[in-house]
Amino acid sequence: MAKKIFSGVQPTGNLHLGNYLGAIKNFVELNNEKENECVFCVVDLHAITSKQDPKELKDNILETVATFVASGINPKKSIIFNQSSVSAHSEVAWILSCIARMGWLNRMTQFKEKAGKDKEKASVGLYSYPVLMAADILLYDSTHVPVGDDQKQHLELCRDIAQKFNNDFNVYDFFKVPEPLIKKEFSRVMSLKDGSKKMSKSELSDQSRINLTDSDDQIINKIKKAKTDPLPMPSNINELDKRLEAKNLLGIYSSLTDNTLENSVKKFSKMNFSDFKEQLAKELVDKISPISIEIKKLLKDKDYLNKILLEGSEKASDIASKKVKKIHEIMGF
Ligand code: TYM
Repeated sequence: MAKKIFSGVQPTGNLHLGNYLGAIKNFVELNNEKENECVFCVVDLHAITSKQDPKELKDNILETVATFVASGINPKKSIIFNQSSVSAHSEVAWILSCIARMGWLNRMTQFKEKAGKDKEKASVGLYSYPVLMAADILLYDSTHVPVGDDQKQHLELCRDIAQKFNNDFNVYDFFKVPEPLIKKEFSRVMSLKDGSKKMSKSELSDQSRINLTDSDDQIINKIKKAKTDPLPMPSNINELDKRLEAKNLLGIYSSLTDNTLENSVKKFSKMNFSDFKEQLAKELVDKISPISIEIKKLLKDKDYLNKILLEGSEKASDIASKKVKKIHEIMGF
């Protein structure tokens, strides 16, 4: 069945293996299914929930577009645009912020993690971040939203907002209630330095993540140095819950090779970590290196990347403005 896909990535630099395996690899698969209509958004309005340098933000927006295209998203088939170029996102975020309840937002764990101890100093935007996400998704009548596991709670909130709007205004099925598309087995790539922490672009140590622009040598080195435990490779999948680093590395291998975790455990059972790491590094270099080379090539042609954004934002504006017109009618504006 044809799906309407929407997803977004923040242009905050250092796109990494977590972004790729948790989200972008799935974007490419969905883009390749002929009947799907896909919209992939560079969410620059989300990026400014924490302080950004304007010049760096501009560069990072283009780098995110380059990463999408280098990974295999076809800009002729899928819409690629940046959020700030379609003002409907900000407008509808405001309207939906009058639908969402404080109690719902107070439960969001990502806000608690990002705001840290000093919540009073966090921006209001960081708090209402998931409402803007709901606007992104609902504007395009999206049926499916491919994301990593960390976005699950935000998608549940989006579903609640859609349902409450439909009920409050008695407009059955006006906002489509979207389904999250989260890989079942391995949807959270963890830090290479600590198997209990998410791989993240904000982590200070570059050794904790594989960046999509890393060279072959950097990838090989980071895997060599990745944390493990003193035992040989696990021989049973049940061991993984207690061996988080082994679980993460095996998960990465399985995801790259489109294999199940169980099969990977069998394949490397009782092997030395160093032998396994060699095979993992080879797999990573095979998959990431062509993307890394292509990103660098595309970044030399900024006109091409800007043209993708311009054409994408025209198409996105077309869809979004029709939805906004209907929202105005429903609201009595
Ligand atoms: P962002 O930029 O933080 O992350 C982009 C995507 O990468 C996934 N991801 C991961 N997946 C697995 N393991 C990891 N370590 C990891 N780190 C990041 C995220 O789950 C995400 O899918 N709020 C969104 C952006 C957004 C959005 C939207 C997504 C804005 N509007 C509408 C979907 C629909 C975010 O966190 O981006």
